[in-house]
Amino acid sequence: MIVYHGTSTKFLKQIRAKGLKNPYVTKILKDAADYAYAAVDKDLSGKPIVLMIELTKFGNLRYDGPAMNEPLSSAYDRKRNLWWNKAAREHPEWVNKKHGTVSIPAREWKYSWGGVGSAIYEGILGADAIRMILPAGEIKKHFAYE
Ligand SMILES: NC(=O)c1ccc[n+]([C@@H]2O[C@H](COP(=O)([O-])OP(=O)(O)OC[C@H]3O[C@@H](n4cnc5c(N)ncnc54)[C@H](O)[C@@H]3O)[C@@H](O)[C@H]2O)c1
Repeated sequence: MIVYHGTSTKFLKQIRAKGLKNPYVTKILKDAADYAYAAVDKDLSGKPIVLMIELTKFGNLRYDGPAMNEPLSSAYDRKRNLWWNKAAREHPEWVNKKHGTVSIPAREWKYSWGGVGSAIYEGILGADAIRMILPAGEIKKHFAYE
């Protein structure tokens, strides 16, 4: 499965040497480009890049709570609710009826993957899985109409 990770060139040397440490990954290329810009904006050094990664094992994937709770845009609202409802329907034991919330366990990555296209890879994702390094600016150009 191909996944994307947005980051900054300032981390690239270390990523190549040590692999990605607990990276967030997304199936949505444009989102990875936006996350790459966020990584650069933190201290305005480096250039935004997207790593295209080939994942062959899925056992390390975890539910991305931050992205489900605070998605990149409200365009995800409908899908997110759909997947929360699905989780509540499939696992009533996760539902807190008093507070009207659903607590999704870490191993259940498919719910954030479905809701906002994102998951956490727990551990070290070796640099040998990186298939391509793409300039985030080029990706964003193609989505300029959004
Ligand atoms: N980056 C993405 O593509 C991505 C994908 C899905 C969701 N998100 C969301 O964005 C938020 C922030 O994510 P983030 O990816 O900026 O994580 P983060 O804020 O934890 O920043 C960690 C940074 O360290 C870099 N890094 C990883 N391994 C490294 C290594 N060995 N040496 C040096 N640097 C290394 C990462 O590329 C990243 O830029 C999360 O809350 C998540 O929900 C991001």
